[in-house]
Amino acid sequence: MSTRRSMRVGIVGAGVMAEAMISGLLADHLPPEQLVASHPRRDRRDALAAEHGIRMVSRNADAAADAQIVVLAVKPQMLASVMREVGPALADDQVVLSVVAGATLRTLRHGLGHAAVVRAMPNTPAQIRRGIAVWAAASACSAGQRDLARAVLGALGEEKEVADEEFVAMATALSGTGPTYLFAVMEALIDAGVHMGFPRELAHDLVAVTLVGSAEFAARSQLHPAQLRNLVTSPGGTSAAAIYELEKGRLRTVMSDAVWAAYRRTQELGARLETETGAAGAAPETGR
Ligand SMILES: NC(=O)c1ccc[n+]([C@@H]2O[C@H](COP(=O)([O-])OP(=O)(O)OC[C@H]3O[C@@H](n4cnc5c(N)ncnc54)[C@H](OP(=O)(O)O)[C@@H]3O)[C@@H](O)[C@H]2O)c1
Repeated sequence: MSTRRSMRVGIVGAGVMAEAMISGLLADHLPPEQLVASHPRRDRRDALAAEHGIRMVSRNADAAADAQIVVLAVKPQMLASVMREVGPALADDQVVLSVVAGATLRTLRHGLGHAAVVRAMPNTPAQIRRGIAVWAAASACSAGQRDLARAVLGALGEEKEVADEEFVAMATALSGTGPTYLFAVMEALIDAGVHMGFPRELAHDLVAVTLVGSAEFAARSQLHPAQLRNLVTSPGGTSAAAIYELEKGRLRTVMSDAVWAAYRRTQELGARLETETGAAGAAPETGR
């Protein structure tokens, strides 16, 4: 039986990303009895158990107890205390996968007192299984443990393993934060449409379908986006007039500044988590 259908998964912190994972794993035919998740609130536990037919527990250590792979899906500010609860319950053959923004392999390894850890960065389209997750495994992770991480992250859309953990930090700024940039572009275009006189709903649909179609077209095309853009830019035409204004407004450098700001923030969050968990002085993770 494939890893996707036979693994036992424990999820700690059953919020938005965890629910996307639960839905994706069940859609991949993981039997619900092989999935357990923890949440401190009873109403949330009852809602998820009723919706997905999985076992919900209140203690985080209980979610980890029987799992081959334990997913940490809490907010960064909860990570240190959650690791103190989960770490002592872990057995050597279990692997822990964190999706917590900024949490480094060193923070995870030190905070949990456990060597087999994976740092991953998914993104919001995971909720419709169209996300992309970038992940790096600690050198202590076996091939089988990497397969488990691949199967769990694959339930959210595409996944890419990287050897250098720093690529996960960079992905936090590019693909993890990426939907935010595109939502802002979408909002600006809709507002421009409304400014011209379109009803808001019609402007929304025109922009949404244009964005999805253009993105799919570019992703499937062998051409660089600049070539695609040149193909629709006729001399003295509408695209040329629009591009002139975009360049005058420093679109490219503003985008680049935004991505760099998100990257710096990821590193700040990472450093803070390392200090909070006492991992700052520990030996760095060496990767594969
Ligand atoms: N959402 C995304 O698109 C996305 C993308 C990439 C990475 N991430 C990462 O995924 C993690 C979770 O994000 P999210 O958007 O899913 O946040 P979220 O919806 O707030 O999920 C976290 C859940 O953990 C619960 N919780 C609070 N304290 C807890 C504790 N002590 N033990 C166990 N659970 C606890 C929260 O409960 P309450 O609701 O009661 O507070 C909440 O339901 C974050 O670290 C984030 O960086 C998210």
